[in-house]
Amino acid sequence: MSALTRLDFPDQLRMTRIYTNNEELNKMGAQTSERGTLPQVEEKYGTLRFPDAPEDRPYVYGVLVLSADGRMAFEDVPVGPYIARKNEPDPEGGLLDFWTLIMLRAHADGIITAAKTLRAEPEASLHICDRRLIRERKQWLGKRSTHPLQIVLSRQGTGIPYEHVLFGHLENEELGYLVVTAAQGAERIRSECPLQVREIKLEKESDLKKMDLLGEILEEKNPQVMPVLTAGARCGEVDSRLLMKGLRRLGIKTLGIESPTVAYHLMNEQMLDEYFLNYAMLFAGGSIAPGRYQPFRHDSHPHSSLLSVSMHGPHFLYTRHRLLY
Ligand SMILES: NC(=O)c1ccc[n+]([C@@H]2O[C@H](COP(=O)([O-])OP(=O)(O)OC[C@H]3O[C@@H](n4cnc5c(N)ncnc54)[C@H](OP(=O)(O)O)[C@@H]3O)[C@@H](O)[C@H]2O)c1
Repeated sequence: MSALTRLDFPDQLRMTRIYTNNEELNKMGAQTSERGTLPQVEEKYGTLRFPDAPEDRPYVYGVLVLSADGRMAFEDVPVGPYIARKNEPDPEGGLLDFWTLIMLRAHADGIITAAKTLRAEPEASLHICDRRLIRERKQWLGKRSTHPLQIVLSRQGTGIPYEHVLFGHLENEELGYLVVTAAQGAERIRSECPLQVREIKLEKESDLKKMDLLGEILEEKNPQVMPVLTAGARCGEVDSRLLMKGLRRLGIKTLGIESPTVAYHLMNEQMLDEYFLNYAMLFAGGSIAPGRYQPFRHDSHPHSSLLSVSMHGPHFLYTRHRLLY
């Protein structure tokens, strides 16, 4: 087990807000019980509060950094963070992109990623690396956990990199994880995973009470146990509505999505509430773009309202969208 990386972001690091959709944000502000914006977020970003979650699922937001030409990774080294890091004219803007990711984790009870991203980014666990954000998440948002629950989605249950750092911090670090799969995925996980698999099966609504047992398994944080949730009864297909109900029952009220494929899937299901899209002013070319295998139709696709736009000099743009279905 290696120690989690820590990084305290410099005080002077901040972006400039150039547009605020006050009308929409005021409406959303009336639907929140959050005490206020975290002080560090107010300093670096501006006001940020999320509406309370509905009864049957968490409030869900995605986060992604894109090149100026809409790509999420370079073809030669396909790791997401390079899109921000390789924007050489503005390293501070790249750090602010990373800060956006971390501050959105600070607001979340759970973060979803998926197997392909884990394989591409072997060092990237989903923890909050800034100690002040951890303190403020507890004080201002009333979160009990130090970090959000790390949730790994794989429909097939194959190709999960069990050597990934995300699976290595159960002891002492308060960093838990859950693998979510479709029917029969758990068998494949059992055959590939070196740990003892404890599976909870959600096949129908009446199974939701099983989430309480899953909660107990997660609380135990036994490093010899791999907690697996099967969501849905159809092979190769995660029932995302049932999954969201289950996560809500587990106490997850705010959920961040760091997997581009899962974000598009949730848009298709009309369950992504917001998308934070940052743009680094470089051109990546190639074909690694979000939604590349998940096209929407010309006569049926989601729209968005911009909630805010911020900049860091002429090289970085940070946007917050509310999805409209
Ligand atoms: N720029 C950024 O901010 C950013 C952020 C994250 C990732 N990235 C980059 O983007 C690339 C990976 O993105 P990605 O979206 O292709 O990978 P991904 O996030 O890992 O999503 C694909 C995986 O999701 C699983 N999955 C779960 N539910 C699914 C569904 N309903 N439909 C389809 N697949 C589903 C698939 O596994 P099964 O086949 O087993 O279901 C597949 O392994 C990497 O290069 C990564 O570095 C960039």
